[in-house]
Amino acid sequence: MADKAWGGVFNEATDSRVEGFTESVSFDRRLYAHDIAGSIAHAGMLAKVGLISKDECRQIEQALEEIRREIEQGGFPFKVELEDIHMNIESALIDRIGDVGRKLHTSRSRNDQVATDMRLWVREAIGQIDEQIIELQRAFVGRCGADADVILPGYTHMQRAQPVLAPHCWLSYCEKFQRDRGRLADCRRRTNILSLGAAALAGTSLPIDRDDVAERLGFDGVMANSIDTAGDRDFLVEFAFVLAMIAEHLSTWAEEWIIWSTDEFNFLKLPQAFCTGSSIMPQKVNPDVLELIRGKTARVIGNLQTLLVLIKGLPQAYNRDLQEDKPPLFDSFDTVKASLELAAPLVADTELNRPAIAERLNRGHLDATALMEYLIRLDIPQRTAHALVGRLVRKALDRGVRLKDIPIDDFKAAHAKLDESVYDVLGVEHSVAAMTSYGSTGPDQVKEQVKRWKERLSATKE
Ligand code: ARG
Repeated sequence: MADKAWGGVFNEATDSRVEGFTESVSFDRRLYAHDIAGSIAHAGMLAKVGLISKDECRQIEQALEEIRREIEQGGFPFKVELEDIHMNIESALIDRIGDVGRKLHTSRSRNDQVATDMRLWVREAIGQIDEQIIELQRAFVGRCGADADVILPGYTHMQRAQPVLAPHCWLSYCEKFQRDRGRLADCRRRTNILSLGAAALAGTSLPIDRDDVAERLGFDGVMANSIDTAGDRDFLVEFAFVLAMIAEHLSTWAEEWIIWSTDEFNFLKLPQAFCTGSSIMPQKVNPDVLELIRGKTARVIGNLQTLLVLIKGLPQAYNRDLQEDKPPLFDSFDTVKASLELAAPLVADTELNRPAIAERLNRGHLDATALMEYLIRLDIPQRTAHALVGRLVRKALDRGVRLKDIPIDDFKAAHAKLDESVYDVLGVEHSVAAMTSYGSTGPDQVKEQVKRWKERLSATKE
């Protein structure tokens, strides 16, 4: 057992099946840079408070940098017997500098070490996802100019409802993703707190300086209770939730565009570079990327569930179960990252099929609500106006015409207050133009919102 850092008390060797079962280095090796950064900060603090000498600190730092390079160049011999990334790095450090390396773990436990690594990793991952979301928002806003005058049928219950401007649809996604950015920022606040110094669960009798470590690592504060610190994984469950929310938003968009790309809708043409074919039906061009963005959302939701169940009823402080936090979290991050990477170019490169959209706008009496609101402006009570327009739509349906094709005499017969000005609100263009409330699809409102989004995105760093 001499090769195990914790082997002193053991008389028997570890069963090799147990080594295979308990190891995490196969998946936590991706924490290497965060682990090394944490160790360098920790060593710096140890030197500052006099627990190691300045020279020992320098040796540790140098050796850790060497190990980092070795890992990055692919030459580092990861060993399953050494369990995890922390022990692999520490053991390599001791191989290089002997007893000085044996001092690094002073006043530290793997419990506060792994928590720190995870906080550093989540902090970085939040930054990456945030940048990708901004890219996606840029893609949506980037379309707004060219699509400014495109009117789309808006749906509720998947039934044609009211006309909306295409940029209004694009910005609806920007808003959802902006809320996700808010969630990321919020999650970052609770993530960016230092765990190191909690040691195993009780803190330490050694004269450490936790604020110093926090400052070296760019944390905004220090966890206040060592028992809580050792077992807290709230921050990463939160991140998994935000990733699930982002995946949900991507899935909504993917679903909409899959439907719009069908021959039945034919609203848009997906770039062929983002489609794949069928092995049996030669004519097919399938929206597989969108389908997989939608499909992978299931995994991301599942991972959140896994993490919530993992911590459910777990005793306080560290329990080995917590090692299982990594695969689902990493998977959620990788999945959402990959989806966002494809979403932005798909949004930018997809073409709207304007003639097909325009041709269908006349169906479905999309202007009925605008007509009703026109009647309300003539001081006809809403319920009366609703019923009246309902009867006019019935008339149009029976005759197979649009509302604007109904002759003026029929309108006048429907209500004494009606005159020729009724035609000013009929037709989808008029109907869209009539919208003026804040956040509505009216052209002035949408123009304002596009402007607001352009300003917001140009104020956001590249
Ligand atoms: N590989 C472990 C994990 O990811 C590191 C912490 C191990 N701590 C311990 N006391 N065995 O959770």
